[in-house]
Amino acid sequence: MNRPAAENVTIYAPRPCRLLDVQQLTPQEKLFRLQLADGSDLGHQPGQFVQVSIPGLTEAPISVASSPSRSGYFELGVRRAGRLTAALHQLQPGAPLGIRGPFGRPFQLAALQGRQLLLIAGGCGLAPLRSLIQYCQDHADDYASVQILYGARSPDDLMFKQDLANWQISDSFTCRYTVDNRPASSCYDGETGLITQLLADLRPDPAICCAVVVGPPTMYRPVIAELRRMGLSGARQIMLSLERQMRCGVGKCGHCSIEHLYCCSDGPIFWLEEVEQLRGALG
Ligand SMILES: Cc1cc2nc3c(=O)[nH]c(=O)nc-3n(C[C@H](O)[C@H](O)[C@H](O)COP(=O)(O)OP(=O)(O)OC[C@H]3O[C@@H](n4cnc5c(N)ncnc54)[C@H](O)[C@@H]3O)c2cc1C
Ligand code: FES
Repeated sequence: MNRPAAENVTIYAPRPCRLLDVQQLTPQEKLFRLQLADGSDLGHQPGQFVQVSIPGLTEAPISVASSPSRSGYFELGVRRAGRLTAALHQLQPGAPLGIRGPFGRPFQLAALQGRQLLLIAGGCGLAPLRSLIQYCQDHADDYASVQILYGARSPDDLMFKQDLANWQISDSFTCRYTVDNRPASSCYDGETGLITQLLADLRPDPAICCAVVVGPPTMYRPVIAELRRMGLSGARQIMLSLERQMRCGVGKCGHCSIEHLYCCSDGPIFWLEEVEQLRGALG
């Protein structure tokens, strides 16, 4: 299993960084654009996370939502959940923050090369997946095809609406999204239904297809069942991201263990076959 490249990152001491911009994505999620105070790039790979802190408060693990191929800044899509994230949501551009990391095992980019990609996100999972989507956009020739599938609870909960619109007209991608429920008062005229419905009519070539799935625990088993029905039943065909409550973020405290694995350093990105048999791993 991979362990973090400790020699290249600041493990325990937060690096100062500056909040450049804040954008409201949904009623409960904001996008934060940040820059390290020394002007250097974060040095992350898609799928990695940082421990973000407000000086004097606490810290929380948040996935990087932008690709390393977009340099000069990095972005975090943050849902307001509790102490740290609520405080983050109050900040204005210019505020000082701390960053530890990047940490964790990223998406396995080498394994995705040349493949037909199904990039599948549910809810807040579009934030981590966006770093891979942007990376694919910036390296479009490396993939046979890229299909983005996204599901949210309601039209208001759709994250990155401007990105979704751009991806739908992009030459590099196919992009479809759906919402579980459309309130009668909504002017949303897109697809309605669970994300598994978007998978139902896909006919990928199982020999060259690879799926990446990021979403809430309840999404994994039904989505995996659909992918298997399409013939994605071999090893290294389904990659997914798992979340656990974390403390150190670097494989030292054991807080994030899933049986013998540490989510922070062996993951958060795993191949399905690495975690499928572990108790509680897939919800
Ligand atoms: C690898 C990783 C990547 C993540 N990426 C993102 C991201 O891109 N965007 C985002 O909005 N959130 C992300 N999260 C979840 C985020 O870390 C938690 O929402 C955050 O730690 C809550 O901190 P807080 O101080 O605001 O809340 P607290 O006051 O600590 O807790 C509020 C509530 O959130 C729950 N909680 C705390 N940590 C987690 C967790 N890891 N998973 C689920 N529930 C948790 C607590 O049990 C409590 O119910 C990620 C988590 C992990 C482990
Ligand atoms: S958070 Fe400490 S070992 Fe993973």
